[in-house]
Amino acid sequence: MSGASPSRTDSKPVVIDETEAWAALAEHQRQMAAVHVRDLFDADPVRATRMAISLNDLYFDYSKHRVTDRTMELLVDLARQAGVERWRAAMFGGEHINITEDRAVLHVALRNRSATPVIVDGHDVMPGVRDVLARMRAFTTKVRDGSWKGHTGKQIRAIVNIGIGGSDLGPVMVTEALAWLKRPDLESYFVSNVDATDIMSVLDRVDPETVLFVVASKTFTTQETMTNAATARSWLVERLGDEAAVSRHFVAVSTNADGVSRFGIDRDNMFGFWDWVGGRYSVWSAIGLPVALAIGMDAFEDFLAGGHAADNHFQSVALDANIPVIMAMLGIWYSNFWGAETHAIIPYDQYLHRFPAYFQQGDMESNGKRVTLDGTQVGYATGPVIWGEPGTNGQHAFFQLLHQGTRLVPADFLIAAESHNPVGRHQSMLMANYLAQTAALMRGRSADEARALLADAGIDGERLELLAAHRSYPGNQPTSSFLVRTFDPFTLGQLVALYEHKIFVQGIVWGINSFDQWGVELGKQMANDLLPMVEGGAGAPADGSTAALLEMYRRFKEAQRPG
Ligand code: F6P
Repeated sequence: MSGASPSRTDSKPVVIDETEAWAALAEHQRQMAAVHVRDLFDADPVRATRMAISLNDLYFDYSKHRVTDRTMELLVDLARQAGVERWRAAMFGGEHINITEDRAVLHVALRNRSATPVIVDGHDVMPGVRDVLARMRAFTTKVRDGSWKGHTGKQIRAIVNIGIGGSDLGPVMVTEALAWLKRPDLESYFVSNVDATDIMSVLDRVDPETVLFVVASKTFTTQETMTNAATARSWLVERLGDEAAVSRHFVAVSTNADGVSRFGIDRDNMFGFWDWVGGRYSVWSAIGLPVALAIGMDAFEDFLAGGHAADNHFQSVALDANIPVIMAMLGIWYSNFWGAETHAIIPYDQYLHRFPAYFQQGDMESNGKRVTLDGTQVGYATGPVIWGEPGTNGQHAFFQLLHQGTRLVPADFLIAAESHNPVGRHQSMLMANYLAQTAALMRGRSADEARALLADAGIDGERLELLAAHRSYPGNQPTSSFLVRTFDPFTLGQLVALYEHKIFVQGIVWGINSFDQWGVELGKQMANDLLPMVEGGAGAPADGSTAALLEMYRRFKEAQRPG
């Protein structure tokens, strides 16, 4: 089903900060400003059971937030007034909700494990999706069982994904998160930066006879990817002495079949996807090929199944018990009613070390927007700065600011009960730290508690007062806790899809288009204009600072020349 999105069928788009729900939340925030979550727990011992939702092996606890039942009612009301349910139906129904690019948004079709057709512009896209999955299965099986040979007849031992943004971060994040499933005889590498150090450090480590390059680019025009791919191609042809080697060592993932052919990769070696898959939502498509090569197609399809389970939850569960809706509305609560600027994602799992970076793109490229769908400037904050690092490392780096700094930083804490490396007491310690940090961030330590501890340690007088000030913690820092049995492909798929839908819901409430990314275009275009000048050609930058930097760059380059 194609056609008008809800904004176009409605006579008047919702101006979210003019709704009754928005006004009620603003008023409610004034009442909540003096409330401490610790007191809410003391008054209501079953708060944690009420403010938690399970989805298969995933447990989501949001009880440590600055919310009451009334807050949640008002937040859900805001979601409803924003039309989240209608927009959700529009997305799953294949409407062109990406209005600036006039495209459907259907990454959910890529992980649709049901027999239900998904109709876009009058066509069921599922046969095409299944066809690509079948081709991925055939290809990854051949590479993994050794029947796909390199040009000189040797088995593939290293996969190098060349892509950037969504064509890199998803494959890296998922491959790393599931690295415990990888075979030791098949290495994975990821090259993204146009800085030659990235590609050269990988080329130094792989053997041309046993390497397979996956050139991943939705558009097949991205400067970084095309440059890295061309460097890899020249390197391979030079080392193996034969252009024909390319067909055994290069495959492409793209929506641009002509671009792939022009680059010199056989169409037989190309895995396609569609314009209704946004780059930052594309890991579920053939962009996931390096993941499937690393962990096998069965595990990749388990990942898809997890995403599908989250889609079913998002589509069918009432808003007030819907995990991504609650995640989204809590974010809106802090961004729009408390002035929070950032949101931290802290996985207590080393395998998930790229999860924050992945959702840095996922969230910031989606919701870093300043006009609503009808082109009006927003009068409120939109997407937060997303950041994070794994725990426990973060505890010894930035947690000081979370505990005693002046900023409000909502955070997500993620952990699995079972480690993939069950050694000694490591997992118990990891878990204890995870629990301790969210509890400490919530409870804090009052000045009186600090005084009592200091007095017990024999400190008194002015020194006691001084240290009590330094050693008290305000607490009341809001956190969500995600606890899973283990981070397997299914659970990871669920988690990733829940975060995606959170981003979607926030975009709907803010009335913005979460699915374009015009902001990155200007810089790209200016880099293209400046490249000839950097290389000594004619022309002058438009501003004095850029001109002076270019001049200094040229002088440094001159100074380097021998003689
Ligand atoms: O940075 C902008 C962007 O378009 C991202 O949205 C995208 O993930 C990335 O570039 C890579 O694009 P492509 O897959 O077309 O090379």
